[in-house]
Amino acid sequence: MAYEFTKEDLKEIEKIKAKFPEVMPATLPVLWVAQKRFGHVEPEVQKLVAKTLDLPEAHVHGVATFYTQYYKEEKGKFVLDVCTCLSCQLCGGYDILHYLEKKLGIKTGNTTEDGMFTLNQVECLGACGYAPMLQVTNDKYVNHLTPEKVDKLLDDLKEGKEPEYEKIGMPRRKNI
Ligand code: FES
Repeated sequence: MAYEFTKEDLKEIEKIKAKFPEVMPATLPVLWVAQKRFGHVEPEVQKLVAKTLDLPEAHVHGVATFYTQYYKEEKGKFVLDVCTCLSCQLCGGYDILHYLEKKLGIKTGNTTEDGMFTLNQVECLGACGYAPMLQVTNDKYVNHLTPEKVDKLLDDLKEGKEPEYEKIGMPRRKNI
């Protein structure tokens, strides 16, 4: 497939480039522009980014493959990153992951046939105090997961309702 940026994308890319004294630091934000446009940054998209920025393909490939947040292959409309690192694991992260596998009828790492959901198992997302948790497509966190909360999340996403940013206060220190 031949990938091309739209005129709007190219305008945005010019704005990004203007923020930096050199073009190289623009690689990360321009990869985001590409991922937003195509849903992933598979090798052909990486080549397009390299060509657009006039940078070596190896550099763009190195950046894209360093960060898990850039999808190197096609994914579902929603990517569910379930944390199974220590805190989440102790609070039932694997139960949530297996519940999602059953519910979606796929194994971890795969995408549902309708292209709606990709299920991933990930390392700590820095929200250990809200375990077990998952992240939706590099963005919203859904915390303190239960099977009921997972059911609601899937139903909402299918209806096009994305979760709100959840504000959770820090635990208060008790007076000693
Ligand atoms: S262990 Fe899951 S967010 Fe840190």
